[in-house]
Amino acid sequence: MNTAATGGLNRLTLAGSTFVRACRGQAVPHTPVWFMRQAGRSLPEYRELRAGVRMLESCRRPDLVTEITMQPVRRHGVDAAILFSDIMVPLDAAGVDLDIVAGTGPVVAEPVRTMADLDRVRPLDPGAVSYVGDAVGLLLRELKATPLIGFAGAPFTLASYLVEGGPSRNHTKTKALMHGDPELWHALLARLAEITLTFLKVQVEAGVAAVQLFDSWVGALSEADYRRYVLPHSQAVLSGLADAGIPRIHFGVGTGLLLPAMAEAGADVVGVDWRTPLDAAAAQVPGKSVQGNLDPAVLFAPWEVVEREVRRILDEGRAAPGHVFNLGHGVLPETDPTVLTRVVELVHEVSKR
Ligand code: CP3
Repeated sequence: MNTAATGGLNRLTLAGSTFVRACRGQAVPHTPVWFMRQAGRSLPEYRELRAGVRMLESCRRPDLVTEITMQPVRRHGVDAAILFSDIMVPLDAAGVDLDIVAGTGPVVAEPVRTMADLDRVRPLDPGAVSYVGDAVGLLLRELKATPLIGFAGAPFTLASYLVEGGPSRNHTKTKALMHGDPELWHALLARLAEITLTFLKVQVEAGVAAVQLFDSWVGALSEADYRRYVLPHSQAVLSGLADAGIPRIHFGVGTGLLLPAMAEAGADVVGVDWRTPLDAAAAQVPGKSVQGNLDPAVLFAPWEVVEREVRRILDEGRAAPGHVFNLGHGVLPETDPTVLTRVVELVHEVSKR
């Protein structure tokens, strides 16, 4: 790289990180890359730190949150950090009796199925998650120029855990409530939207550079049901952050047919799973940046396959105003972390401009 280009790169860095610029569809020196679930079980240093500490407990300790969030940044050289926390953290803080069980996921002691149950899901007092703001504060000092992504679960995905009482394949109880008692459903989703917005505002006020709203399981719905039962509530969350001045990313799995509707929820960046190529996604969400698409399972294939997929995704990502390289869902626990590091290097090298 010549001196002029290096100078340009420095100015770009000052004007905003590569990650934030790509979210906004602005010119970048290379395609930024981070991985959903980059902080977690694929890293031996994470497993060591978490030994004997329950998941929710680790989320309440700013020292642990800081260290776990930093681990993938140091190891992989990703272009963004994501706060170590969980989508269930604000519900725990709002008074819901729940646990996050290793190998299973969130388990709710008393599922929400009636109006009386809904009373147990209290509005979130920001003070009840002050440890999250504290962790963000510590992280900003450690991270320096690397942007920190805050996040929350979207109302539908949170509702699915609350109504089912735990992880679910078919979401039968959730859908039964949604169709059978729309009044309770909308009251529940409105409450969850309020909690989510409060939780995200705590992170924004503490200084995160972007937020991601995870609606992981919303792909279980038809577009018509999504529009009627979910969209207004996700919209309430994202529009509540419209004045925050930071990019908003909205992601779900199996959302190939929901992307235009999800884009209407108001995010700046649309997250895409491994099923929908980024150029096809970009055509469905004009004006939005895109993120995602590398199948997390492809990281288990020979390197030639990984390389071919990374190059394809970088090519197809050019169809959108901005492209953030990521997986189509979270890093799987058995992933070899050295492959993730190689992907970061390859993305940077191939996309260098
Ligand atoms: O991405 C990151 O690195 C930041 C940390 C993060 C976690 N959870 C940590 C975690 C993020 C962004 C989440 C979000 C989350 N949590 C989602 C949305 C993203 C997605 O994957 O779809 C969902 C659906 C949850 C609920 C949840 N929490 C599940 C399904 C699990 C996994 C259960 C298991 O053990 O397989 C959790 C637990 C959890 N959250 C772990 C981590 C690192 C594993 C807990 C452990 O180490 O014991």
